[in-house]
Amino acid sequence: MTELNFPDGFRWGAATAAYQIEGAAAEDGRTPSIWDTFSHTPGKVRDGDTGDVACDHYHRAAEDLALISGMGLGAYRFSVAWPRIQPGGRGPVNQAGLDFYRRLVDDLLARGIEPWITLYHWDLPQELEDSGGWAARDTAYRFAEFSALTHEALGDRVHSWLTLNEPWCSAMLGYGTGEHAPGHQDKIATLRAAHHLMLGHGLAIQAMRPQHAGNQLGITLNLHAFTPASDAPEDADAVRRLDGIGNRIFLDPLLRGEFPADLRADLAPVSDLGHIQDGDLEIISAPIDLLGLNYYSRSAIAAAEGEPHDPASHSPWIGSERVRHISRGLPVTDMGWEIDPDGLRQQLLDVHAVAGDLPLYVTENGAAYPDKPGPDGVDDPERVAYLDAHLRACHSAISAGVPLKGYFAWSLLDNFEWAHGYAKRFGLTYVDYPTQTRIPKTSSHWYGQVARNNAVPT
Ligand code: NOJ
Repeated sequence: MTELNFPDGFRWGAATAAYQIEGAAAEDGRTPSIWDTFSHTPGKVRDGDTGDVACDHYHRAAEDLALISGMGLGAYRFSVAWPRIQPGGRGPVNQAGLDFYRRLVDDLLARGIEPWITLYHWDLPQELEDSGGWAARDTAYRFAEFSALTHEALGDRVHSWLTLNEPWCSAMLGYGTGEHAPGHQDKIATLRAAHHLMLGHGLAIQAMRPQHAGNQLGITLNLHAFTPASDAPEDADAVRRLDGIGNRIFLDPLLRGEFPADLRADLAPVSDLGHIQDGDLEIISAPIDLLGLNYYSRSAIAAAEGEPHDPASHSPWIGSERVRHISRGLPVTDMGWEIDPDGLRQQLLDVHAVAGDLPLYVTENGAAYPDKPGPDGVDDPERVAYLDAHLRACHSAISAGVPLKGYFAWSLLDNFEWAHGYAKRFGLTYVDYPTQTRIPKTSSHWYGQVARNNAVPT
């Protein structure tokens, strides 16, 4: 049988995030994050689910790391909970919180698995939100301090670091649509949050850079893959607008030290962007060593005229006025997201065109399906097909010259899917929440074989 071989040294991993799996919300000195507050607010999360227990990973880490070893993966991407390491978001390290991650890292290294740390996967300490959250400039400085504390402590044994995970979600869903914590609906706060997140990223890179020479530092973005619904110039302009507020608002400051001029013009009715101070763009564009991309789907976009731009309106997200997402009738996952692997290939090529030789990693890719255990375990052929198709897209991008160096499946375990609670299952491993039993799905066996062979079977 022929196989689709990946380059030597390609990293195969799985990913998780602290609030989605750890539980132990009030243990060993951890203080509440915005997601504790939000999930405990009636009506915010489906079925009233919270991350209080989640996958109980805090107490079952050894069992979970054994799952990674069992698959034969070489890397594991996880996030550290800011309110565990630095309760309240200010002041000294909480040793007990830090020790949990130190043990986790040591256990990974003992198993020959490379740890990848995400510093911020959405669990802002509630006290910092009470002082203005990401809409406040000071939060960027607090994040840099937290990043430096954590990197100082663990950077001798963890060599791959991501500052933020998907700042678009933190800003747009957290401060714009209100679907995510802290649940605000405020366009000015959204733009301030987007900027202060990126400022925090740049300040964190600057603070970490001198600490442990040779570590690779970067960020993970969820760039939106859009395609115009037709050849009409109006649809092309709708894509341009969404690409501005969804992608280039992060990419251009990061890679070029510039704020996109067309986006500045689009946003003029809402804000003069006075919160961007002299020197900020230089900080944000501090050199990075890798860029992480999370990819799930692509959307077809059409212009929707007749809906005037109303700065006061709470439209789905800022900049999405006068646009419509068009269904192309493609198969969808349990999230309702259209399955479009070619969007990943295209995105990798597009990002490579602006990022040059910067190493790229797919830091998340995967699919939710309504899995159910049967007599022989959990069979999830749709997820296998999804992963297979997206890995082929990665392979094709590599063949076209994209410096894609690794791939992390989302997720190691079924977990707390934010506003959807536990209703959506993204895991390679099934979690029976009442008993906390883990059952590797067919996809975990399939993916482990891919990782061990460094090849996708054809
Ligand atoms: C991206 C986020 O980083 C992750 O936390 C989430 O669970 C997945 N997307 C699936 O929606």
